[in-house]
Amino acid sequence: MESTKSKKITAVWILTVLVLFIVSIVLGILMRLNQGGSIEQTPISFYTNMTTHGMTMIGIWFVAGMAAINYLLQRYIRTSFTINVVALVLTVIGILLFWSSTFIGKFHAAWTFLYPLPFKQMGAESWATLMFLVALTVLGVGWLIWSLSLMTQLLKKYSIPQAFAWQHFRKNPKFETPPFILITMITLVGIIACLISAVVLIVLFFAEYFSSGTFVNDALLMKNITYFFGHTIANEMLYLGLAVIYELFGEVSGRPKWKTTWYVALAWNFTLVFILTAFFHHLYMDFVQPQGLQIVGQLASYLASLPAAGVTVFSVFIAVYRTEIKWSLVNLLFFIGIAGWVIGGLGAVIDATISNNFVLHNTLWVPAHFHTYNAMGNVLFSIAFFYWFSTRQFTQNFKVAKYTKWTLALLLIGGIGFLMAFYIAGADSVPRRYSIYPSEFTTAAPLANLGAIFATVYLIAILIFFFNISKRCLKILSLPS
Ligand code: HEM
Repeated sequence: MESTKSKKITAVWILTVLVLFIVSIVLGILMRLNQGGSIEQTPISFYTNMTTHGMTMIGIWFVAGMAAINYLLQRYIRTSFTINVVALVLTVIGILLFWSSTFIGKFHAAWTFLYPLPFKQMGAESWATLMFLVALTVLGVGWLIWSLSLMTQLLKKYSIPQAFAWQHFRKNPKFETPPFILITMITLVGIIACLISAVVLIVLFFAEYFSSGTFVNDALLMKNITYFFGHTIANEMLYLGLAVIYELFGEVSGRPKWKTTWYVALAWNFTLVFILTAFFHHLYMDFVQPQGLQIVGQLASYLASLPAAGVTVFSVFIAVYRTEIKWSLVNLLFFIGIAGWVIGGLGAVIDATISNNFVLHNTLWVPAHFHTYNAMGNVLFSIAFFYWFSTRQFTQNFKVAKYTKWTLALLLIGGIGFLMAFYIAGADSVPRRYSIYPSEFTTAAPLANLGAIFATVYLIAILIFFFNISKRCLKILSLPS
């Protein structure tokens, strides 16, 4: 049962995420305006904005998913309030240190901080890289403690085969694992694995930093670890959102709760294995990487995404097809978010196919697909949860208000327009991460300006959601303990 203090900390998580989201969107719009030539930022300002935007976005949507599953897990197990608070405090400290490293120290090695870039920061303060590494340590430690705590609590109630729903591979299982528990468990394994790899990465960075030149890292090894961490966390945070959908979609739609079947169990166990090796597709252009690993990368990219997407889409389809359903903002956002996730996922699979990657590698196709399943996928999963969480403390009436339709229209028009500007430019070979485009790319600047206009429309929709959700979250904070 959810206690008042757990409601309050969830409200604080939501407010923190939404405020940071709005600031990060503004940074994104500034980047697009600069790429379009409508404003003029120095290259260093562009890249500090890009680094701040990317890392903050990944961080906030990861913690948004974690806060949501932490809250919902209380329906099944006891979770630690103290660890939740520790994670929140370390996240806030980590973000403040990180923003100091970028905004004050001018650290600008992108959110992927690919070795040896953090050691080659022209124009940055001498302390900026160290502060960035400390920020990463604080965030990593906080999130690792949080994930380990949730997994420990899960394993106190469920045996390992039960948590992974292996009994569902046989007919008529005696024990049913809720899909929420299965997906949470699978996701936590991936999260813990990639956070441990982040710890190894940070240790290697520190070792070189303090060695005064006597220790030099292996660039290929560093790239492998970096992408194992980065790719995995960016994907696992989506699965946190999906876990929430499996738990709430039926409930908010006035339909039976979703169940674990043999194919749901199989698909998610597939995801557990293959998501950990899909990151090899980030190394296709590293020709010294053994070729076998590149093939693993392509196969794993398909096997990690298609089964989970298949069963989720099938479950949503069964839930809504020719069925009387109670539509509300919550399940509408889930529904649109699933579409965004699938479309972005298809864009990712196209890019992860080796023959296509020769053309699309490091073009704007990359931000196109990952913004699709984030800005129009995972973000919507979390906003649906935020709306559900903040509303149900006061009423069970989730009816779609008239103005909500307009907000959704703004979100869709803004989101689709913003993404199309990336996709069209990507298909036209416009490179990603350019602060100013060379004049040979004639479509790049106009598309960037168009992207900025649509992103502003998306921002307006987000501001309306923010106003509504934060109003109720502040009320929750003033509830008597
Ligand atoms: C309307 C909202 C958003 C706008 C306007 C925006 C804009 C941008 C722009 C212009 C870039 C640089 C593209 C390039 O030239 O390579 C970028 C990169 C990025 N964005 Fe967004 N974005 C938005 C939402 C999001 C969301 C929701 C996420 C969630 C994860 C996200 C994560 C990232 C990441 C990880 C990068 C890569 C940064 C890097 O290369 O270091 N963005 N975004």
